[in-house]
Amino acid sequence: MSSFLTPFVVDLLSGALPLFGGGLTNAQTNGNLNFSSWQNLPEFLPGGPYSHGSPWGSLQYQPDIINEPLPDTGVTRYYNFDVAPGKLSPDGYEKDMLLINGQFPGPLIEANWGDWVEVTVTNSLESVAEGTSIHWHGLRQYQTQFADGVPGLVQCPIAPGSSFTYRFRADHVGSSWYHSHYSAQLSSGLIGPIVFYGPRSQPYDIDLGPVLLNDWFHPYYEPLVETVMGNSTGFAHFTFSDNNLINGKMDYDCTLVTDGTPCVSNAGVSKFRFQPGKDHLLRVVNTGSAGLQFFTIDEHELEVITNDFIPIKSYKTNSLTLGVGQRSDVIVRGKRGVDAQRPYWIRSNLSVSCALPHQPYGLAALYYDDDDFAANKTPSSTPQPLIDIEMSCQNEPLNHTVPVTRIPATAADKVVTIQVINTVNATGHHIYLLNNQTGRVNYNDPILRLANEGNFSYPMDPDWNILDTGNSSVVRLVWENQKFDPADPNFFNLTFAHPLHLHGHDYQVLSFGPGEWDGTIVNAANPIRRDTVILPPNGHVVMQFTTDNPGIWPVHCHVAWHVSAGFLMNVMERPHEIDQQQNIEEIMAQTCNAWDAWSEKNVVDQIDSGLRRVMRGRELGSS
Ligand SMILES: *[C@@H]1O[C@H](CO)[C@@H](O)[C@H](O)[C@H]1NC(C)=O
Ligand SMILES: *[C@@H]1O[C@H](CO)[C@@H](O)[C@H](O)[C@H]1NC(C)=O
Ligand SMILES: *[C@@H]1O[C@H](CO)[C@@H](O)[C@H](O)[C@H]1NC(C)=O
Ligand SMILES: *[C@@H]1O[C@H](CO)[C@@H](O)[C@H](O)[C@H]1NC(C)=O
Ligand SMILES: *[C@@H]1O[C@H](CO)[C@@H](O)[C@H](O)[C@H]1NC(C)=O
Ligand SMILES: *[C@@H]1O[C@H](CO)[C@@H](O)[C@H](O)[C@H]1NC(C)=O
Ligand SMILES: *[C@@H]1O[C@H](CO)[C@@H](O)[C@H](O)[C@H]1NC(C)=O
Ligand SMILES: *[C@@H]1O[C@H](CO)[C@@H](O)[C@H](O)[C@H]1NC(C)=O
Ligand SMILES: *[C@@H]1O[C@H](CO)[C@@H](O)[C@H](O)[C@H]1NC(C)=O
Repeated sequence: MSSFLTPFVVDLLSGALPLFGGGLTNAQTNGNLNFSSWQNLPEFLPGGPYSHGSPWGSLQYQPDIINEPLPDTGVTRYYNFDVAPGKLSPDGYEKDMLLINGQFPGPLIEANWGDWVEVTVTNSLESVAEGTSIHWHGLRQYQTQFADGVPGLVQCPIAPGSSFTYRFRADHVGSSWYHSHYSAQLSSGLIGPIVFYGPRSQPYDIDLGPVLLNDWFHPYYEPLVETVMGNSTGFAHFTFSDNNLINGKMDYDCTLVTDGTPCVSNAGVSKFRFQPGKDHLLRVVNTGSAGLQFFTIDEHELEVITNDFIPIKSYKTNSLTLGVGQRSDVIVRGKRGVDAQRPYWIRSNLSVSCALPHQPYGLAALYYDDDDFAANKTPSSTPQPLIDIEMSCQNEPLNHTVPVTRIPATAADKVVTIQVINTVNATGHHIYLLNNQTGRVNYNDPILRLANEGNFSYPMDPDWNILDTGNSSVVRLVWENQKFDPADPNFFNLTFAHPLHLHGHDYQVLSFGPGEWDGTIVNAANPIRRDTVILPPNGHVVMQFTTDNPGIWPVHCHVAWHVSAGFLMNVMERPHEIDQQQNIEEIMAQTCNAWDAWSEKNVVDQIDSGLRRVMRGRELGSS
């Protein structure tokens, strides 16, 4: 492999591989997490009425019809999350983290399609003086948008010492994740998996549960955000990830640690049990902060059956590409005979062209044999071929991925072109501009509250970066990533890939690729739909959605550092219908009263856009 980053890459496998596993206990690497609680998942959870043998009976999953009849299970699944600082060593390096219930990754949220989910989140971050909020990625949140978890938009942050209960519907079937939407807290550990059971689009035998891919940064998130938003130049302005975790584990070469931080080189990797000849489901999710991942299993083929929450016509591949926030369910057929008597590596490689990893190679071990599993036998298996990394800062070609439920692309009655620019402002800071406007929210003034008051004439802070789509029915957003401009002396000659996530919708992807859009819609009869898609460097993405979900929905790059630096726009969808929702005022008060009181007495260190936090202290103004 070669790229301009090659000198920075440390190849764990090319050097002396640390002793494999056994160096730390699970409590030291992942705290209270019990991995068996999210492996070998059931077909559905008990509770609620059953017809035709399942809670959803004969209902079809049509993930794009806003008023699709959700199964009325009458069941609520309750969870309590206590968010607190803690130290763990997921890869052997002891890190200051933010933990949910003392574990990393956070607890599995599971529900049957149509259930309600209630999560009471308690902020125990008094010692670090931070707010928090949790976003449930990819959910529609139809008529529950105050549960979407975005501070400054649909709630105030949960103040230290306070709690807030999110109540929402399991409105999709499949795999997702949740994460803090407060500054870049997710980079310090506030992430976890979501599984919603429902009709399967393809049969399989064993549900192995979530497989979370995490580029891993050893420093706490705040200095990282400050580096990215700071005015240092060249490479000093970038953040490099230190490692790559699969389900919260990996080994690290501790000889690289020079500052005396406790580190153990053979912390151990995640282990998976396969059965010969069986079809295994893996729910693969990129829960990282920045990096694009290529997921593979040595000598095994992947059959991809979903993109985000959308079942697709399955296709077989050796390698799955996932930007931050994206996920795919894949079926992997177990080997038979002698091939099912040895272990294999499961790998996730961070892109070295579209991300900045020091150590790109995430490993986990796949075992067929009980004794090998117990002995942590080191696999010796053949990797899948390197895919063309230079060309792969984008998702699988659009014409390979076709949704099971057919919805053609219609004409849009509102088309907005958005030019993405990373630039250096007058004080030398790197910021993102969308059509010349950076995004930043006000934690104390959630936009939903004003909209709910029927107040659309409020002095709109330009930094709120609101895109009011009015009464339009179909909105098309044409994204153009910055072109390389060698004449601009301030311009670092690298444009990044951006995983673009729109809340509240599964949008159609009409086109993506290098250069400008030529107006062609790929697969117009049934374009892919998902909630996150990668905007390639020097390229474009065209997304389109039906405005069937009144509310205020952010659309942002899911690279934590980019949204911090203002890569954020807020779509105000059918504003006149927002105030028809009930009790918004009362729900806003549940977080805002405590937050207003807390922020009166404490300096809120909103170092960035807020979805990830503007530079340290209010005196530095807006990002
Ligand atoms: C771990 O989870 C499994 C499955 O939920 C459960 O059977 C087991 O008792 C748990 N172990 C511990 C130590 O809690
Ligand atoms: C992943 O990295 C390994 C080296 O650790 C390499 O052998 C393999 O080809 C890579 N696979 C992909 C898909 O990039
Ligand atoms: C997808 O498009 C590419 C180039 O546009 C073409 O080479 C390829 O055959 C197409 N694949 C399918 C499955 O249509
Ligand atoms: C960087 O920004 C700080 C204030 O944020 C300023 O004092 C300093 O002069 C700037 N340095 C450069 C090189 O622009
Ligand atoms: C951004 O601002 C520049 C200079 O003010 C202007 O030339 C350009 O047209 C603007 N671009 C957009 C997309 O509004
Ligand atoms: C709308 O809200 C803004 C900001 O809170 C306030 O200044 C303005 O008076 C409000 N307008 C109306 C008509 O209530
Ligand atoms: C949108 O519809 C509302 C209610 O039907 C109406 O009051 C408003 O004027 C419309 N807005 C526009 C821009 O047409
Ligand atoms: C990009 O920037 C690097 C470092 O400043 C420089 O060495 C390289 O020649 C530049 N590449 C192009 C294509 O301008
Ligand atoms: C440049 O951006 C930084 C980071 O958002 C901000 O703190 C600073 O005030 C901005 N400078 C100007 C002149 O707007």
